[in-house]
Amino acid sequence: MQDGRTTLSKFLIDTLDRQPSSGNAAATAGLSALLIDVAAAIKSISAMLTKGSLGGNYGSAQTINTHGEEQKKLDVATNEVFVQQCEWDGLLAAMVSEEMEDVYAIPSDYPRGDYLLAFDPLDGSSNIDINGVVGSIFSVLRTPQGEAQDAVGEAAFLRPGYEQVAAGYAVYGPSTMLVLSVGNGTHGFTLERDIGNFVLTHSNIRIPEDTVEFAINASNERFWEPPVRRYVQECKDGRTGCREQDFNMRWIASMVAEVHRILMRGGVFMYPRDSKTPAMEGRLRLLYEANPMSFLVEQAGGLATTGRERILDVRPHALHGRVPVILGSKNEVERIARYHGEYDRGEDKPYTSPLFSPRSLFLPDFSA
Ligand code: F6P
Repeated sequence: MQDGRTTLSKFLIDTLDRQPSSGNAAATAGLSALLIDVAAAIKSISAMLTKGSLGGNYGSAQTINTHGEEQKKLDVATNEVFVQQCEWDGLLAAMVSEEMEDVYAIPSDYPRGDYLLAFDPLDGSSNIDINGVVGSIFSVLRTPQGEAQDAVGEAAFLRPGYEQVAAGYAVYGPSTMLVLSVGNGTHGFTLERDIGNFVLTHSNIRIPEDTVEFAINASNERFWEPPVRRYVQECKDGRTGCREQDFNMRWIASMVAEVHRILMRGGVFMYPRDSKTPAMEGRLRLLYEANPMSFLVEQAGGLATTGRERILDVRPHALHGRVPVILGSKNEVERIARYHGEYDRGEDKPYTSPLFSPRSLFLPDFSA
């Protein structure tokens, strides 16, 4: 397939519908049609966002979502766009969204299908008022075998991320891009605004295995666990520290924008476990943030871990459950996971003790 010429519809037909000999055809029947509905939602949202404050959609909706966060008018409006574009087509049994507390079962006046859609309609919405980059994230599962489509409830969604049949995000930046995987690599499409087509521009994205760029909200440093402190400190020590090279730090406050940068040129993104809100496992939601992004990252040759477990293996316990997220370039993510292991086994004392910080008089010899 050719970059610059292949539309999203053609890509999906060629990838999913014209492969009957793969034995996969029944498993993916209707998936391309569903992804075209999702793409239509993304085009509407892109048009809405482009209007900026002239669209009358800025500001608070004066409501609180299921996470206790104030909803913006655009959170509510973009959620509505996803629901309306995807509910009527006979492809879905139910949806889950960051902006809806319970499972949204497809209303009985529409036909129901086999798929489940989990989504965050507007990621990074604190960037809206500053005309910064935001995104939408989505994940597709099939209804468990034998489950009646009209009885789909919470349990149907509580499945590990490796079961996803498709995942993707839209990044609304200077251009709108849709980045997608149906399990055969990660591919990027750019919206040709005048015509309304998503055109394949970044086929088979590969994340470089090494990087000197990391992203973390450093204002939370005092709440991090020792292995994360160790990693970040070593990066900050740069050329004169044990890594012997300088690193760069980035923070856009939109997971979509961070993951997009990592897919384009490598890097590591961390929203790790911390002690800021002890009751929370992490900050990011598993079903519609961590899982779809981990799927895309792995399909592009990167890794995604909680620090202690592959994210795609995590068994969800609640629709809106959260996990620590560390993802991106393979060699750095492996290093951070190793630091977690060393910490858990008590093997990292020389590295994490304040006595032996790089500025300490008691600097041990790490070269041995
Ligand atoms: O809710 C998700 C999110 O907006 C992510 O997209 C982003 O990475 C993070 O929260 C930003 O968090 P913080 O407010 O700590 O910068």
